[in-house]
Amino acid sequence: MNKPIKTIGVLTSGGDSPGMNAAIRAVIRTSTFYNKRVFGIYEGYQGMIEGQVKELNARSVKNILNRGGTILKSSRSEEFRTKEGRKKAFEQLKKHEIDALVLIGGNGTFTGAHLFFEEFGVPVLGVPGTIDNDLYGTDYTIGFDSATNVVIACIDKLRDTAESHNRLFFIEVMGRDSGFIALRAALASGALDVILPEESTPLEDLYRELERGTENKKTNKMVVVAEGNHLGSTFEIAEKVRQKYPELESKVTILGHLQRGGAPSCYDRVLASQLGVAAVEGLLNGKTDVMAGMVKGEIAYTFLQKAISNKAVLDTELLRISKILSI
Ligand code: F6P
Repeated sequence: MNKPIKTIGVLTSGGDSPGMNAAIRAVIRTSTFYNKRVFGIYEGYQGMIEGQVKELNARSVKNILNRGGTILKSSRSEEFRTKEGRKKAFEQLKKHEIDALVLIGGNGTFTGAHLFFEEFGVPVLGVPGTIDNDLYGTDYTIGFDSATNVVIACIDKLRDTAESHNRLFFIEVMGRDSGFIALRAALASGALDVILPEESTPLEDLYRELERGTENKKTNKMVVVAEGNHLGSTFEIAEKVRQKYPELESKVTILGHLQRGGAPSCYDRVLASQLGVAAVEGLLNGKTDVMAGMVKGEIAYTFLQKAISNKAVLDTELLRISKILSI
């Protein structure tokens, strides 16, 4: 029988994503609602090792629902990857009498959480917070919708110049080794083509799309490139295209961390609120070593190990649709 949970700790780890603050708020307020003490752990796992903890209450998280980033700050801790680091973190939890943890983050965060639970038996519950949408066990991760909205707003602006100058634009988007942002943004912005990590298509396919675009008298050509694709860096791809089609004037735009910033969308605020509540209620109902996700509109708890090791699958139907509509 696990000991009853009186105190919960919450942290954010890995890359920040819009909606993390909404999730923090939900965790703090739900804990307070159920008369539990709740501590914010600052700067992710590194802060846990260093004892950067502070007791928070419902008012500590006022006015953050609409803010990007994470008020708890984040880090990618090398030390937490070691057993000694995790031991230090455990000592800090004991010192502050924290009985259970909510971890908001992605793959790396959940890998650490799973190990921590196995080694020290502290109940852990993950909330998927990453723009990459690469976790199994949830249809969407917190931040993905906001990030893709930023991407399409940027592509809309770039199209103005592309159209005015008859240019070809290569727009690089994030996602690490997943193409969720690239695919969805390509479809939503009417891109001519998209280069995805999940597809092993040769450069000739892009050449064919470009030629088709020229034949069909497209005056602007937008190509979305996922950063983790197999054809190389966006600059390398653009250079090869330049050599083959010197008549096409092309530009490269790397959207980079712009995609991670800004106010969360309505969708992300709602999702973060739902998953934050589900995380605390899950812990209080004895769940551990799982991630709270949303599958087909229902809360679903998936073992962390499964959420990390199973691949979130790209909806290739979106690619088919995108190709039909980009003629
Ligand atoms: O995982 C989120 C993410 O933004 C990825 O899309 C990207 O590859 C990576 O983080 C960038 O990490 P950093 O902010 O540490 O450069």
